[in-house]
Amino acid sequence: MKQTFLFLYVLIASICTAFSQEVNIIPRPDYVDVKQGSFVFNAATKIYYNTAAAANSAKFLQSFIKDNYGIQPAIQKGSTGNGIHFITDNSFKNESYELNIGKNGVAIKGGAAGLFYGLQSLLQMMPLEGNAPLALQQVLIKDQPRFGYRGAMLDCGRYFFNPEDVKRFIDLMAYYKLNTFHWHLTEDGGWRIEIKKYPKLTQIGAWRRGTQSFRNGEESFDRLPHGGFYTQQQIKDIVRYAQDRSITIIPEIDMPGHTLAMLAAYPEISCTGGPFKVLEHWGIQKDVLCAGNERTYQIMGDVLDELLALFPSKIIHIGGDEAPKDRWKECAKCQAKIRSENLKDEHELQSYFVKRIGKYLQAKGRRMLGWDEIMEGGLAPNAMVMSWRGEKGGIAAAQMHHEVVMAPNNYMYLDYYQGKKEGEPFNIGGNLPLEKVYSYEPLSPGIPKENQKYVIGVQGNIWMEFIHSVPKIDYMGFPRLLAVAETGWSKKEKDYSHFLNRLGYNLQWLDKKNVNFRIPDPVGLKDSVLSAKQFTVSLTPPIQGSEIYYTLNGDDPMEKGIPYTAPVKIDLPSTGSVILKCIVRTQTGRVSGVRTAKYALK
Ligand code: ACM
Ligand code: ZN
Repeated sequence: MKQTFLFLYVLIASICTAFSQEVNIIPRPDYVDVKQGSFVFNAATKIYYNTAAAANSAKFLQSFIKDNYGIQPAIQKGSTGNGIHFITDNSFKNESYELNIGKNGVAIKGGAAGLFYGLQSLLQMMPLEGNAPLALQQVLIKDQPRFGYRGAMLDCGRYFFNPEDVKRFIDLMAYYKLNTFHWHLTEDGGWRIEIKKYPKLTQIGAWRRGTQSFRNGEESFDRLPHGGFYTQQQIKDIVRYAQDRSITIIPEIDMPGHTLAMLAAYPEISCTGGPFKVLEHWGIQKDVLCAGNERTYQIMGDVLDELLALFPSKIIHIGGDEAPKDRWKECAKCQAKIRSENLKDEHELQSYFVKRIGKYLQAKGRRMLGWDEIMEGGLAPNAMVMSWRGEKGGIAAAQMHHEVVMAPNNYMYLDYYQGKKEGEPFNIGGNLPLEKVYSYEPLSPGIPKENQKYVIGVQGNIWMEFIHSVPKIDYMGFPRLLAVAETGWSKKEKDYSHFLNRLGYNLQWLDKKNVNFRIPDPVGLKDSVLSAKQFTVSLTPPIQGSEIYYTLNGDDPMEKGIPYTAPVKIDLPSTGSVILKCIVRTQTGRVSGVRTAKYALK
């Protein structure tokens, strides 16, 4: 009798769990209704589509299934038959979709981009094991993004990454419904885009003799020649690749500062005449474009003409950040320009420069986006602002009814440290753990309700001063970009522990895909001041299928760690503290750095 009750209890409990169960999709969908049962692929399951946009997603799914599960379902135009249906439906907004997984099949309806996002949600529900029966939880999802701009930036100016690496990054963005790739293409340390009219930009500007890898002086300089650039053909190919994944590429040509590589190639558009060399160390440079020289505008106009022919994006990023005024103060041409244009000072000269570039773009049907410094000396009409020095610039721009992308460094600079420095690879500085990225709310309290519509979204930035390999991009970008994605897509009311739960599944997937993400700390690991000498520490592995190994006596957990199987009892000494050191090992054998928590008596 007792056993029957127990059986019933377990049965009811598991049914309840099944019903309350959520899908592990990141970013969290707007509406999820998990049903009982599953849809299982069989040899006859086909993929159907109704339009060209739908065919794109259908082909995607086909190759995903082939790559991961070794079967190749047929694709067919049409709307009848059991299987997986991609249905463009114009009653949906472009990025909205509905995903319905029923007993007999799957239907994804949506706008052109929405279908692709419905597909991404479907992919995230696929089983992790390639040889498992392809079974999908029955569910109804209705979903749409909170913000129309969900961005990520790579600084390929400071460090060149191959087209294939850029595409891989775009794939990862697409998987998390990020829709804007901001491609920082020019820097003091390198010019990365082929410009046919000015070949020296890449012959000279794309190469340097070495790279600074640490902060501490000469010994950190590697003396390994570094460089590269993207040909126009490669760029066209990458733009198309991104388009197929519902991603717009916004190229950035940074000006008038961060232009030393350009000046090394064409010193005649500097204030001093040079000579210059492509920067090998990092820092803000005093040598910038001469804003008093008409030749500067001519060359920049020509460069933009070639750029615009490659990038269909309506928005073009012109940088505008960190341009010291030292040279302009001493330059006869710049001073003459200040006088002839009735400008007050060098700040207004910066504004003149930026506005002139903005007008040039506008005449070609494009809009200018710039870092928040473009507000100095007056904001150009129609300009969009990317707020990076905190939120101040964004708040001010929204106040002036200009559109804003929020990328405040204290929440969105993914080159910052994400854990205690001693356990992390060398980085530029800062402190930006995953939870802090996740906590970001783009509609700053400083922006009154009526101006909130000017905040079009968020962006995570990966600057490459100290990021010189793809595994390190992965490490810095992931999983923090998943937090950016959820901030851009999901409802304002976010729940970090819910996110961590879904993250655990997603990281298991990324682990299989050889993404070198930073393995998060075990959940529950944190420095604590306690009032009792005896207490228990409960840890949860941060990734499904991963294991924690720990020590309490100071030993290296990599070598001497005890497997964590149950909460750990700790006895604190009357004075001093206990340090728990641990590592996490994933299913594929990747091991985290040593993570620690210090426990001390009050
Ligand atoms: C920037 O971080 N200089 C935009
Ligand atoms: Zn000048």
